[in-house]
Amino acid sequence: MKKASDNPTSSKKANVKRPIYANSVLFNFICSLYFNVFSTAGGNRDDDCQSLRRLTARLLYGTSTQGQRTISRRSNLFDLRKMMNAPSPHDDEEVHGGEEVFLDEGDIIQEYTVDEEDLPDADEEEGSDTEEVIDGEDDSTHTFTGHTGELYTVACSPTDATLVATGGGDDRGFLWKINQGDWAFELQGHQDSVSSLAFSTDGQLLASGGFDGLVKVWDISKGDIKCTLDGPSGGIEWVRWHPRGHLILAGSEDSTVWMWNADRSAYLNMFSGHGSTVTCGDFTPDGKVICTGSDDATMRIWNPKTGENIHVVRGHPYHNEGLTCLAISSDSALALTGSKDGSVHAVNISTGKVVSSLSAHSDSIECIGFAVSSPLAATGGMDKKLIIWDMQHSSPRCTCDHEDGVASLMWLPGSRHIATGCVDGKVRLWDSLSGECVKIFSGHSDAIQSVAVSANGDFLVSVSLDGTARAFEIAEFR
Ligand SMILES: *[C@@H]1O[C@H](CO)[C@@H](O)[C@H](O)[C@H]1NC(C)=O
Repeated sequence: MKKASDNPTSSKKANVKRPIYANSVLFNFICSLYFNVFSTAGGNRDDDCQSLRRLTARLLYGTSTQGQRTISRRSNLFDLRKMMNAPSPHDDEEVHGGEEVFLDEGDIIQEYTVDEEDLPDADEEEGSDTEEVIDGEDDSTHTFTGHTGELYTVACSPTDATLVATGGGDDRGFLWKINQGDWAFELQGHQDSVSSLAFSTDGQLLASGGFDGLVKVWDISKGDIKCTLDGPSGGIEWVRWHPRGHLILAGSEDSTVWMWNADRSAYLNMFSGHGSTVTCGDFTPDGKVICTGSDDATMRIWNPKTGENIHVVRGHPYHNEGLTCLAISSDSALALTGSKDGSVHAVNISTGKVVSSLSAHSDSIECIGFAVSSPLAATGGMDKKLIIWDMQHSSPRCTCDHEDGVASLMWLPGSRHIATGCVDGKVRLWDSLSGECVKIFSGHSDAIQSVAVSANGDFLVSVSLDGTARAFEIAEFR
């Protein structure tokens, strides 16, 4: 669901890098102080810094604006340790008990100037960021503010209803929890934008793909990196897990697709044939076939085991320009692809033949998805439209108008509603049967890049170029 790169409003390759991030300046500052104070007592610097990073995260990242759930600091930290699986170098009481002030003035060795205006305000209350939110409204129940640049990608754990992963142009990824603003774990190590994130089906592992060409695998229960997978010579555009088991598939800017076994950190196969960036791809839900779409205007269908290219779908009546997005029907029979040229085509995966062409969009298609339990599909485009298609008749069923381009969409699991993330910064919920907009969530001040839904269906999380991730309550639309 990454955006056509020639579209300025949704370009994810932010070449603007802010020079110094207040978070890290402050963190390094605290860390160096802490090290100097405690190292004489025999502490290990890395452990201490780990522990401090956690505490600093609690001070800096995110605010739970409506406090729907009250969770004590103690349980947060307990949770965090459990997840990190790392013993604290401190006595519990030292961490929990006081006001988390481990230093006094006499301990200061060196002072750094930190521009207070750049510091995220840990005590920020709802509505206090009015300069960011144009209309002042914020319908979110939680805003995650740990990132210091544009956000591109979000994934919700399929097994933990509160756990969310986000990544973006600040080269950082985070794990954080909905409505637990003082909990965050940084996915460290990418050297360029974090473009894609995906949880394994069992929720045990998280894959992060970066423009640095690396895929990193994170062990959720250990709270630690499991392995770093390399191979592609260009940035990672997307990552997907096999529907069963721990196989990762990733598409690259260098025209190749790679598959690894995450449990063994082992390379399995490389799929080469595309002539340009592989912008989208996935396993079929039965896990037997791989479909990939490229900026070269073709879709390729592959055998995952042998690496064989079974079909190349191209030419009339297929797309004239690069593919931007791809969805596969739940019975693994059809692939639906969207293109920069505004066309949408359905392809029979077993024959590689175009079975229908859905034309109604007038600009680049940005997002696509099949309904799980009805013969409907949805497409969103820069023409500001969400179109809901009747796949049995290959005809548009409803057109849902937006104020700006539709950058991302998601069918709410087990529901007839579709969520869209729009370039105008709004999340909208649509009734796929009537085509009516049933809810508009405000809060973001810039284009939404991606949306995801929590495991229990209670929250939708959106990420935006405004540098924040926001959670909205959607339980009533299940
Ligand atoms: C795909 O093609 C095969 C072989 O012609 C056919 O049996 C199958 O029904 C087709 N599936 C779809 C979804 O069109």
